[in-house]
Amino acid sequence: MQNVSAILYLVAAVLFILSLKGLSSPVSARRGNTYGMVGMLIAVLTTFAVMDKPVYALIVGAIVAGGAIGTWKAKTVEMTGMPELVAAMHSLVGLSAVLIAVAAVFHTGVEHTPVQKVELFIGAFIGAITFTASVVAFGKLSGKFGAKAVTFSGQHLLNLLLAVAMVGFGVVYFFTDSHAAFLMMCAIALVLGVTLIIPIGGADMPVVVSMLNSYSGWAAAGIGFTLNNPVLIIAGACVGASGAILSYIMCKAMNRSIVSVLLGGFGAEAAAGDSTASGPKSYKSGSAEDAAFLMSNADNVIIVPGYGLAVSRAQHALQEFADILTEKGVNVRYAIHPVAGRMPGHMNVLLAEAEVPYDQVLEMEEINSDFSNTDVVLVIGANDVVNPAAQKDKNSPIYGMPILEAYKARTTIVVKRSMSVGYAGLDNELFYMDKTMMVFGDAKKVVEGLVKAVEH
Ligand code: TAP
Repeated sequence: MQNVSAILYLVAAVLFILSLKGLSSPVSARRGNTYGMVGMLIAVLTTFAVMDKPVYALIVGAIVAGGAIGTWKAKTVEMTGMPELVAAMHSLVGLSAVLIAVAAVFHTGVEHTPVQKVELFIGAFIGAITFTASVVAFGKLSGKFGAKAVTFSGQHLLNLLLAVAMVGFGVVYFFTDSHAAFLMMCAIALVLGVTLIIPIGGADMPVVVSMLNSYSGWAAAGIGFTLNNPVLIIAGACVGASGAILSYIMCKAMNRSIVSVLLGGFGAEAAAGDSTASGPKSYKSGSAEDAAFLMSNADNVIIVPGYGLAVSRAQHALQEFADILTEKGVNVRYAIHPVAGRMPGHMNVLLAEAEVPYDQVLEMEEINSDFSNTDVVLVIGANDVVNPAAQKDKNSPIYGMPILEAYKARTTIVVKRSMSVGYAGLDNELFYMDKTMMVFGDAKKVVEGLVKAVEH
């Protein structure tokens, strides 16, 4: 049986790797998902078959309950709610790592080797930090805790002291097998998860979510060693490594170092940039008809979609509008910022849903140099990703973050409901420029107005 299970675990692991490969492109993403699902089914059934004294009622009950909640959530979640759902799921991975480690430590009659103790220690504290940090990330992303960074003096020192105390109790457990020390270590790690994440705010949240993704993978891999389960080690390592790579890519897209993200504080100063601080500034506004007139008389139009497009689900109407413009001979393209929206690839998913041809969708590096030769840029529900302060204002918290250079176009049209700020909480100079026209309203309603206006 052992050989058969080893082969089945290997098959599952290969399917996980093929799944990751498939998910790297929208064309193969569905296939990738299927590989992942089949791999997971094989892994679960194999584990079921090799268990010592399985408590079937408990296991089947857990699978049915978990499966039912998962199916319900997957069917009801809005695209804009995905990041917080992902954060919530990471919290469960973290919690299960802690519970498994505690169960293993408290399991009577089992002597743990020194190596196993270190694995239990690492799996438990990473799991505990992941659990509470993910709960806070979930709260911030869903707007329940407010997205602003919470900072106070001595914060880093406090974190350092907590980390030292946590490791200290881990060392006591290592040498004395004290259950109390192990529990203290877990408790401090739970607190550390909160204190580490509260100073991180605003625009750094995507990186944090992907870091937590990575942590939850390493916690699972650590527990895989304890349970002597190769597929858990491989799957955990895949999640851990891919989360770490994604965090690195996002940090690069925001021009931030991973260390500065983790030390936090970014976004705390955001409120200082509020437009009210320097008194009311003037801006121009127009109607959907004005905007449609400008765009149908242009040679080139670049559309910059952002979070507001996702909220109002305007992508189908937008593509209808783009098609009409194209028929009129206008060259229409979409510009995608790597952190537009609320999750990696958010805009690509929305545009794929509306069946926008892939060749009209360009990444930031591909299209940024074209803005200065563009007649009209339509910024729709986007804000931070086109904020010129990132290039021009050295004191701005987002200074250095790469942006879509919409401000360089001849005319910019911005569709949003008000003059209010975006996710990072910053005012945006683009809205007050002479060549910018604001069109106020819900994105979907405005785009429907645009379609109506060009059809006449
Ligand atoms: P934001 O800067 O968040 O701006 C979105 C704008 O959309 C808001 O200013 C809002 O203005 C407008 N809006 C909201 N609902 C709307 C509706 N129904 N109709 C029309 N407009 C609407 O978005 P962005 O430019 O896409 O930038 C993304 C931000 O989120 C970045 O700071 C990024 O770091 C952060 N973030 C990204 C991710 C990932 S991985 N993509 C995850 C978490 C956070 P009004 O209220 O005036 O309408």
